[in-house]
Amino acid sequence: MSKANTKPTRHGATRLTLYNHKGGVGKTTLLVNIASALASLGYKVLLVDADPQCNLTSYLVNAEVVDKWLDNSDSEHGQTIWTALKPFVESYGELNFTQPPEMHNGVLLLPGDIRLSDFEQELNQIWLDCLQRKVRGFKGASAISEIVNVICEENEIDFVFYDVGPNIGPLNRVILLDCDYFIIPAACDLFSARALKTLGKSLFNWIKEWQVIAQLAPDNSLLLPGRPKYLGYILQRFRMYGGVIASQFASYASMIEKTTFSDITEVLRRIDKELATGTLSQTRLGQVKDFASLVPLSQEQGVAFFDVDGGDTTMKNDSRKEFKSIATKIALLTSDI
Ligand SMILES: Nc1ncnc2c1ncn2[C@@H]1O[C@H](COP(=O)(O)OP(=O)(O)O)[C@@H](O)[C@H]1O
Ligand SMILES: [Mg+2]
Repeated sequence: MSKANTKPTRHGATRLTLYNHKGGVGKTTLLVNIASALASLGYKVLLVDADPQCNLTSYLVNAEVVDKWLDNSDSEHGQTIWTALKPFVESYGELNFTQPPEMHNGVLLLPGDIRLSDFEQELNQIWLDCLQRKVRGFKGASAISEIVNVICEENEIDFVFYDVGPNIGPLNRVILLDCDYFIIPAACDLFSARALKTLGKSLFNWIKEWQVIAQLAPDNSLLLPGRPKYLGYILQRFRMYGGVIASQFASYASMIEKTTFSDITEVLRRIDKELATGTLSQTRLGQVKDFASLVPLSQEQGVAFFDVDGGDTTMKNDSRKEFKSIATKIALLTSDI
């Protein structure tokens, strides 16, 4: 069979994202810590900075290097996610596959880029192209997925984590549709509980629409799987909105748990039971407390809380224990065995 007629295969690495359209719920911070915890369990992890604000890249890499990457990302030899997408966005050319730099043992980063927003602008048209069965629509929708595919193959990746911006825009739509699983980080407050309804509705609509689009796809196109399964939620205990006091924590925690069940699990099960198989206790992936003084150290050094030089030993041990537990659950729940 000629290559052109072969349907491209998807690499077997598990793709996940921490998703909540609400900002400041700790997505990027969790990602850095979970990735390092998985790497310390022996897994190879690819982090994809798919937020045009590039917070993940700035977290892990020092400012001069980030500036250099952003300055060079238009050139053929650039290194960011935009470098890879640019030929497609500008002239429907072939994607430019770049080798992502290794951050520390077992964690690779595909750097973010503010110009990812140029690609995001194209994505509305790309979606319409899909509905009109145009090949370039399917190519565009799966462009990031394909870049990730190639990187996974070349680097024998086990887990891919997409870091996304806080919105329900078209970029996050294609990313969620590429994910095998998503995790919800939720702060313990009333706004977070309310936001889950919008989150569930958006995911429902995206998956349903993609089911229609997938029927229209030409046979040999690399198709987004369009079946992000709900793995569970992580409670963020740190104060973000002027103070959740300790005694309120427990009641918010149980409210969030109930709401994730009604607004996410039950909503996804209406499409397909397989999209949300976890029991309530299985979806309880972890609780991450306020790690206060470890946070700036972690950001300055570009490493997980538990890997910082200096810092409070008890806090470091607590964070190691919590993230190891989250990573172990993720590995277990996503394994096919
Ligand atoms: N466990 C934590 N303890 C204390 N502060 C945290 C913790 N996790 C995140 N933060 C802080 O909360 C803010 C938002 O976190 P971030 O990871 O950037 O969220 P998001 O990616 O959802 O916007 C940042 O200032 C970060 O330093
Ligand atoms: Mg972020």
